[in-house]
Amino acid sequence: MKVLKNWNLPDLKEAGKRTRGAVERVDSFMIPASAVNMGEGKTYWLSTYGCQANERDSETLAGILETLGYQPAQGPESADVILVNTCAIRENAMDKVLGELGSFKRIYSQRPDVIIGVAGCMAQEDEFVKRVLAHYPWVRLLFGTHNIQDLPSLLVETMDTDDRVVHIYSRQGEVYENLPVRRFGKHKAWVNIMYGCDKFCTYCIVPYTRGKQRSRTMEDILKEIRELKAAGYREVTLLGQNVNAYGKDLDQDLTFASLLEETARTGIDRIRFMTSHPWDFTQEMIDVIARYDNIMPYIHLPLQSGDTDVLRRMGRRYTAEEYKALYDSITARIPGVAVSTDIIVGFPDESDEAFAHTLEMVKACRFDSAFTFIYSPRPGTPAARMEDPVSPQVKKDRLQLLNQVWNEYALEKMKAYEGKTVQVLVDGPSKRNPAVLSGYTETNKLVNFTGEGVKAGDIVPVFIETAKTFSLDGHLVTDTPAD
Ligand code: 5AD
Ligand code: SF4
Repeated sequence: MKVLKNWNLPDLKEAGKRTRGAVERVDSFMIPASAVNMGEGKTYWLSTYGCQANERDSETLAGILETLGYQPAQGPESADVILVNTCAIRENAMDKVLGELGSFKRIYSQRPDVIIGVAGCMAQEDEFVKRVLAHYPWVRLLFGTHNIQDLPSLLVETMDTDDRVVHIYSRQGEVYENLPVRRFGKHKAWVNIMYGCDKFCTYCIVPYTRGKQRSRTMEDILKEIRELKAAGYREVTLLGQNVNAYGKDLDQDLTFASLLEETARTGIDRIRFMTSHPWDFTQEMIDVIARYDNIMPYIHLPLQSGDTDVLRRMGRRYTAEEYKALYDSITARIPGVAVSTDIIVGFPDESDEAFAHTLEMVKACRFDSAFTFIYSPRPGTPAARMEDPVSPQVKKDRLQLLNQVWNEYALEKMKAYEGKTVQVLVDGPSKRNPAVLSGYTETNKLVNFTGEGVKAGDIVPVFIETAKTFSLDGHLVTDTPAD
């Protein structure tokens, strides 16, 4: 394949480097003259894969596109710009993205002026980029996680050339403030508090695709939250790959506990945060969560494995006993707290005994819910180079057994809600059945309920009649004044 001089291709080795140099902070967003109003009368379609960080990035992509004049399209068939914001966490994400890109071939053959672009974590991966360049000629723009803010000039460049435009930087990253944002929710908002990750768990691609840990300043974060509150938002979720490490990269003496406390003092109704690494989870954080009613009693605390040797080989830096001690301290000190987790089965050379330790931990903790995955080797990460004699079938069986076990406990936890009244932040009519309303409890349980005179964004009391593994059913309590 001919590589033109102005292509910037990803380089995972470079992406994994870390230096102590100061992080560049950019406060203003500039649109080049050639891009101003370039989207007038045109439309865009965005497709997003993966985690909340990607959802939030897509809100920025949409914000930039709308600043240029583009409007949302009804679907990709009619859009002038199609962007796919990708995720690289597991291999099946790549298959899904390639499937979607394949389906755009027809659109391109009917409308060759359409700009089809790929962004996000997978664009930071060499193998993926090579495949797209070789087999998907209708993808005309590739850019990564570090140059979202350059979208206006990237679009101009793509329009001005017959060649593909590829700008992917494998750098440690900067912090950009004041980028345009088009929030997808009206009552719940994502707020980035930091970017990147320096933990380098041995299975994980994120530290390579999203650069080094860069915290936003407390001032910038609180300003955003106050503005959201003033605009009628009722819930914010503080986002970071590892929120507990917030501030460690800043000069000031800032901790996540202090950020949480200041966020609580803004008076916004509901505060959530994710994801928490057990390593940096302090007792001070537990105190703050317990002390403020507007910090939701829900914690996502990835376990990954219940076996200390596997945890060591994963680079997680806690033992199974330390995890359990932290779990106990969280559940003892935060009344009514719900805890969910992430678990990987089939990490290289995971023995039957090691997997049994994971099951034991799940039984001991009785998680409210769990996101469970079969280990997926990510090229360039240390675990991808480890010997792995465990067969795919054994891994599938382990996943099935694990799901069976956590489902049982989750249902037990849900059953405890029957006959109780909970506060629900209403999202609107349920996706499955528009005749009922749906929303989430403080502990992040999905509730479907009946009731009159309730609108999206209200926080209302709901009496729970029946519990299922993944949702609760109930009715609005009308004799208590609504929030
Ligand atoms: N294979 C399988 N699961 C993974 N995760 C991260 N990397 C991998 C991988 N290579 C899971 C972890 C993490 C969640 C977001 O995805 O459990 O917490
Ligand atoms: Fe990946 Fe570990 Fe960082 Fe989470 S903490 S993003 S699992 S490297």
